[in-house]
Amino acid sequence: MSEITVSVIKADIGGYVGHSAIHPEHVVTARGCLDKAVSDGLLVDAKVGSVGDDVALIMSHARGVDDERIHKFAWDTFVTLTEVSKRLKLYGAGQDLLADAFSGNVKGMGPGCAEFAFVERKSEPIFVFLADKTEPGAWNLPVFKMFADPFTTAGLVIDPSMHDGFEFEVQDVLEHKKIRFACPEEMYDLLVFIGAQSRYVIKHVYRKGGDEAVAVTSTDRLNLMAGRYVGKDDPVLIVRAQSGLPAVGEVLEPFAFPHLVAGWMRGSHHGPLMPVAVDDAHPTRFDGPPRVVCLGFQLADGKFIGPRDMFADPSYDNARQLALDITDYMRRMGPFEPHRLPLEDMEYTTLPNVMNKLKDRFVDLEGANPVGSLKK
Ligand code: F6R
Ligand code: MG
Ligand code: MG
Repeated sequence: MSEITVSVIKADIGGYVGHSAIHPEHVVTARGCLDKAVSDGLLVDAKVGSVGDDVALIMSHARGVDDERIHKFAWDTFVTLTEVSKRLKLYGAGQDLLADAFSGNVKGMGPGCAEFAFVERKSEPIFVFLADKTEPGAWNLPVFKMFADPFTTAGLVIDPSMHDGFEFEVQDVLEHKKIRFACPEEMYDLLVFIGAQSRYVIKHVYRKGGDEAVAVTSTDRLNLMAGRYVGKDDPVLIVRAQSGLPAVGEVLEPFAFPHLVAGWMRGSHHGPLMPVAVDDAHPTRFDGPPRVVCLGFQLADGKFIGPRDMFADPSYDNARQLALDITDYMRRMGPFEPHRLPLEDMEYTTLPNVMNKLKDRFVDLEGANPVGSLKK
């Protein structure tokens, strides 16, 4: 049986207005590029998704992951969309396109990418989660809950086909290393790492003892690539569901808790990740709070039947209300941690300039031993 590949590649190619949304012309233009790629036979099917100021190309094809033609097509589409942004003088045109020219794979060039290949099952429910004003590690907690927390996913306890658990591949995005953990047996080891979500990011979840991916995230960190602030790495997550995998309601359940994530204003603040309907995915308050949408599809011979707007559901109203209450609470901290990120994680910082200006006014404390001079 041949495999189908699902690739979601997203980029911020310019915002309308500021960093709050994309423009309707972006959708029309992206739709045109995708339709042509389908009629040319490059893609089996494709949808345009968006959240905040990010456009996501949701594509199915038979070419496998990391395919140069697929990545080049995505890059060229973002270049075309950037032309729209430039013509309309939208904000930050081409923000995520860090390189001048495509060089083989969008990885390391700015766009975020999540893709996996699998043999389509008799029925294949699949979710594309898109988040804005946050970073890839924002998925660690919900993905852990979906595939390892028995209080979230009842199937881990009562479905014989899930009872053995799943394997998690974690990437160290600073050292560029990866490691695999089997759950439940290595759950505590896994949590040591993925609790530090700015550095250790879940990349894949696999069925136990094999290489069949059932979830995949984008782990691209823009500021690490560019070495400076160039926007946040608003991430993508794709999850397969049902029949030996978490049920629809188990995949979505973690988002009923709006956990704190890094991002928000100037990529430098903690705030709640609020699950919203597509029509509400336009962050405005203090450029936030960070948002997540979920597009549900049934795959049918590689075609995307959908989307269903999964968070357009009153059962997330309490999560949204809690997120708004947390927003009020966190905002009152103003420039103080832990609302503002610690210095080393901030995307914007005036500290070096202020420090430089004031360096001659810092004097040694009389009689004090510098910490480094103390005997261990
Ligand atoms: C965060 C984000 C916005 C901007 C902010 C300042 O990911 O996109 O909060 O950081 O609006 O943007 P600039 O520096 O472009 O004026
Ligand atoms: Mg932007
Ligand atoms: Mg964004």
